[in-house]
Amino acid sequence: MAIRNQTLGEFIIENQSEFKYSSGELSRLINSIRLAAKVVNHEVNKAGLVDILGAAGDMNVQGEDQQKLDVFANEAFIKTLTNREIVCGIASEEEDDFIAIKDGNPNNQHKYVVLIDPLDGSSNIDVNVSVGTIFSIYRRVTPVGTPVTQEDFLQAGNKQVAAGYIIYGTSTMIVYSTGHGVNGFTLNPAIGTYYLSHPNMQFPKEGNIYSVNEGNYVHFPQGVKDYIKYCQMEEGDRPYTSRYIGSLVSDFHRNMIKGGIYMYPSTAKNPDGKLRLLYECNPMAFLAEQAGGKASDGFRRILDIEPTELHQRVPFFCGSTSMVEKAEYCMKKAADPQ
Ligand code: AHG
Ligand code: MN
Ligand code: MN
Repeated sequence: MAIRNQTLGEFIIENQSEFKYSSGELSRLINSIRLAAKVVNHEVNKAGLVDILGAAGDMNVQGEDQQKLDVFANEAFIKTLTNREIVCGIASEEEDDFIAIKDGNPNNQHKYVVLIDPLDGSSNIDVNVSVGTIFSIYRRVTPVGTPVTQEDFLQAGNKQVAAGYIIYGTSTMIVYSTGHGVNGFTLNPAIGTYYLSHPNMQFPKEGNIYSVNEGNYVHFPQGVKDYIKYCQMEEGDRPYTSRYIGSLVSDFHRNMIKGGIYMYPSTAKNPDGKLRLLYECNPMAFLAEQAGGKASDGFRRILDIEPTELHQRVPFFCGSTSMVEKAEYCMKKAADPQ
């Protein structure tokens, strides 16, 4: 059987009609994310050369300080989305407030808002380890033609129309869902095209990898401690393997392919955990559920949480369904031993 090399561009066009409000706008939006991802990818790939290139005068011709990559990625996504006149508002982990496209601007006619974590796992940049970008897309709730308000961004995750991530790893990939399963596309850097390499991605129901920053162990709630001890116990297919990269995108991606759970629980320092509900947990939870997995704050479904603040944090347990259920069981048991 001939193998068809479907490109992301072809895939977007072919699947456009699956989307219930199909007007081509969402497709164009995903297309511009694809473009911004290429620009960021190019910059991420030369991160290790920054000092050398800078010294040679190839960059920073005005003698400016080299921009930090998270600032660069933030600007690249915001510029691409606004220049292409595709969204009516953007909220970013890197910005204090959301960006509303002003009255009179044709962007006001658009239906979608985008929320992004432009560079996830940024502390890994200096050591040549994978980083990512996370994005989340909603339909605005305020009327088209008016400036967006906070209400358009503070929607529960179950209202997402699409979400995804880009992983700048050994290969660069876009993985996303518009609510009809999860598909992964790998960039061929020689020609700058993404190909469908991982159709219909599924979390294995059972897994044997747990990913958590165990340095925080003593500060974890008792339920998390109990679950970690369960993972380490010699019984059946246990002990599980511990793997923690420290960039959510990369840890999630590995766990979705191999089967595993990612946890960022509350700690003494961060009582609501560290991860952001709107830019990190909701999009990953949407993808997890679309791939047959599960995402929880330890007690509740992430996607049902009504956000109250743009930069709200939430404890996060996400991955293979049976593992997340077991973690929830330990949380419940420790909270209410009856
Ligand atoms: P960001 O780089 O966007 O700030 O996100 C980093 C997040 C997440 O990607 C990662 O899993 C977690 O922070 C790591 O935190 P610890 O270093 O506390 O383990
Ligand atoms: Mn992040
Ligand atoms: Mn970030």
